[in-house]
Amino acid sequence: MASQDKIKKLIDLRTEAKLGGGEKRIEKQHAQGKMTARERIEKLLDDGSFEELDMFVTHRCTNFGMDKTKFLGDGVVTGHGTIDGRTVYVFAQDFTVFGGSLSETLGLKICKIMDIAMKVGAPVIGINDSGGARIQEGVNALAGYAEIFQRNIEASGVIPQISAIFGPCAGGAVYSPALTDFVMMTEENSYMFLTGPKVVKTVTGEDITVADLGGADIHASKSGVSHFKVEDEEEGLLMIRKLISYLPQNNMEEPPVLPCDDSIERMEDRLNSIVPENPNLPYDMHEVIDAIADEGEFLEVHRNFAKNIIVGFMRLNGQSIGVVANQPNYLAGVLDCDASRKAARFVRMCDGFNIPILTLVDVPGFLPGSGQEYAGIIAHGAKLLFAFGEATVPKVTVTLRKSYGGAHIVMSCKQLRGDFNYAWPQAEIAVMGAAGAIEVLEGREVASLATEEEKAAYVQKKTEEYQDAFANPYNAASYGYIDDVIEPRNTRFRVIRAFQSLQTKKVVNPPKKHSNIPL
Ligand code: HXC
Repeated sequence: MASQDKIKKLIDLRTEAKLGGGEKRIEKQHAQGKMTARERIEKLLDDGSFEELDMFVTHRCTNFGMDKTKFLGDGVVTGHGTIDGRTVYVFAQDFTVFGGSLSETLGLKICKIMDIAMKVGAPVIGINDSGGARIQEGVNALAGYAEIFQRNIEASGVIPQISAIFGPCAGGAVYSPALTDFVMMTEENSYMFLTGPKVVKTVTGEDITVADLGGADIHASKSGVSHFKVEDEEEGLLMIRKLISYLPQNNMEEPPVLPCDDSIERMEDRLNSIVPENPNLPYDMHEVIDAIADEGEFLEVHRNFAKNIIVGFMRLNGQSIGVVANQPNYLAGVLDCDASRKAARFVRMCDGFNIPILTLVDVPGFLPGSGQEYAGIIAHGAKLLFAFGEATVPKVTVTLRKSYGGAHIVMSCKQLRGDFNYAWPQAEIAVMGAAGAIEVLEGREVASLATEEEKAAYVQKKTEEYQDAFANPYNAASYGYIDDVIEPRNTRFRVIRAFQSLQTKKVVNPPKKHSNIPL
């Protein structure tokens, strides 16, 4: 074959590969409001930066006449490119080829990407849109999944792993995204479940739709499997670019520091009056976060799940910071099972990727009751406690208002190696709130009083005494448990200075194979 012909053949093969399962199936994909695998990658990466690998791979299956149907690339597009100039590795399942189902070779393509990403220390972003194991391939497809899972596990805590679910993700296939650091789902077209509605109906008799079983709403708000719910793929892909900007390339690097045009000395007078006089009234912690952050920008993770705690990323003087904050506006900011495990996972992710943690505390305690006890609040609360105590990144805590009992300890207190623990003047750091304390301490005395008026007067007097003694930050500050009481409007300035002074912090946990966090 002449050289010209050889080059033409290459161009023809490339054109064929780029068509995946063909025009008709691409049209069907578009008709469902979905992009193709290559369109998604193009949108995700910097313009023109994508380098595709394994475009000519085809499956090796001969069952069910499969040898007569082959598509170049075999249902997944893989390669590398850049986001804001930083290298990332990507794979995007191509639903137009056998429904993006996972064959032996498709699995190998994904594994190749993950192996190189580990060697070079770069994030992996996987876009899932697949009918699961390729049925014709039997156990080879299962082996392909298991190879990917093993790599997900080994890469965990080494390189950031992000999963976007832009189509079906069912059966054991859900476990690859579940093993990664972040899962994103779109409102439409995206679902994740171990067993679909038909099997559910057969086994349990339950009638349920795909959306109610494993749609984006469910996983974003009820199960917590998904960290981000986005309206459409475009929004999702832009959000992944943003997310990457807060993360380092790997666990041996620091996250990028971006130029900051927001004055670090910016004071926010509104913070001086944001905490209501009445300690039982709520306020919105988001306002505090926005006031502190560079340009008021905050990328919230798990926005719809366990809203009583807020987690996400901000920048302070350009430095990436993980924020964990109780939300008085939702269930009074109480800690429950979901809030504890949501925050624990976030804290561990930050610690694993060298992202300093800012903790904003206004917590009345753990949610009491049999519902929580039976659901394992002891184990879930312990996760958060463990995560904060184990974390060696710089940790700055600001107590805005309530910080009672076990919840005080759990929320990155001094003894959990909080580096700087500040409090606002309105802070109340105590074993419990005044009402509960007086009930315990003075119950017998109150019962002995004759009239309701006498009882009320006595309780009020004792409550005031308790509040004077404990409902303030100075008691804790007198022991050095609080490093300083700060004016709320200065918070941005003070925490930036704190993090700057902690930049060279080095703390190493005792050598061990791994910890045994109460999972
Ligand atoms: C082979 C598959 C496939 C699969 C879809 N296709 N899933 N081929 N193996 N698992 C093919 C279809 O034959 C079709 O081929 C094309 O992909 C598009 O599929 P449609 O059904 O036309 O698309 P749609 O109507 O959108 O329905 C999507 C779907 C459905 C809901 C995902 O395809 C489906 O139910 N697929 C099977 C899902 C499943 O049971 N998978 C195995 C799960 S067990 P043509 O040629 O017509 O374009 C599993 C175990 C994993 O995954 C364990 C890991 C540890």
